[in-house]
Amino acid sequence: MQVKLKVFRYNPEVDKKPHYEVYDLEADPTDRVLDLLEYVKGNYDGTLSFRRSCAHGICGSDGMRINGRNRLACKVLVKDLGTSRIVVEPLMGLRVIKDLIVDMEPFFAHYRSVMPYLVNDEPPPKQERLQSIEERERFDDTTKCILCACCTTSCPSFWANENYVGPAAIVVAHRFIFDSRDRAAAERLRILSDQFGVYRCHTIFNCTDACPREIQVTKAIGEVKRAIATGKIE
Ligand code: FES
Repeated sequence: MQVKLKVFRYNPEVDKKPHYEVYDLEADPTDRVLDLLEYVKGNYDGTLSFRRSCAHGICGSDGMRINGRNRLACKVLVKDLGTSRIVVEPLMGLRVIKDLIVDMEPFFAHYRSVMPYLVNDEPPPKQERLQSIEERERFDDTTKCILCACCTTSCPSFWANENYVGPAAIVVAHRFIFDSRDRAAAERLRILSDQFGVYRCHTIFNCTDACPREIQVTKAIGEVKRAIATGKIE
């Protein structure tokens, strides 16, 4: 099939403003959008810039806007878009470094701010710190986050104020807050109850729609809000 691939292009070192390039390509319906970008880079313009690594939906590096929705380019097949016109743009709310590459540092600063690691200073038992199946299941959904930023950069509250910690950081905090082995839940809840924390979430659900791992992001944010309000980790 023939497709028109319209790609956001911007090199701040030479361009006064962004523009779009359109590439007419022969594609297979089972090609992924990442395949099309690789083809353009290899055959039309080697300067086209985008991040990718695993190409299998694991590393989270190729989050971008595809026909207006945040997706991983390696997980979207041409046939699933239902159109031969494909528009590819960088994630919103983060500075464009070049073409489809955005500056992820503010995103990772929010990630680091919620203590994204297990805290437990108690002496370890002889073997590992055990959990019941139910205790492990409590936070299973939020362990799936791959930090692609698709959720945070689809959130109007984040677009309005980049200081908002954002859905991804709350998901990661949730993963530790509800882990029975962790001892820093109170500290994380304190961090997330400040003016740039969970109460910036207006339950719009863009984050849940955008998550390529199908994490129930808005539900996780709601559970963190409830823990702050009740003082109970349940
Ligand atoms: S390239 Fe790794 S998730 Fe797409």
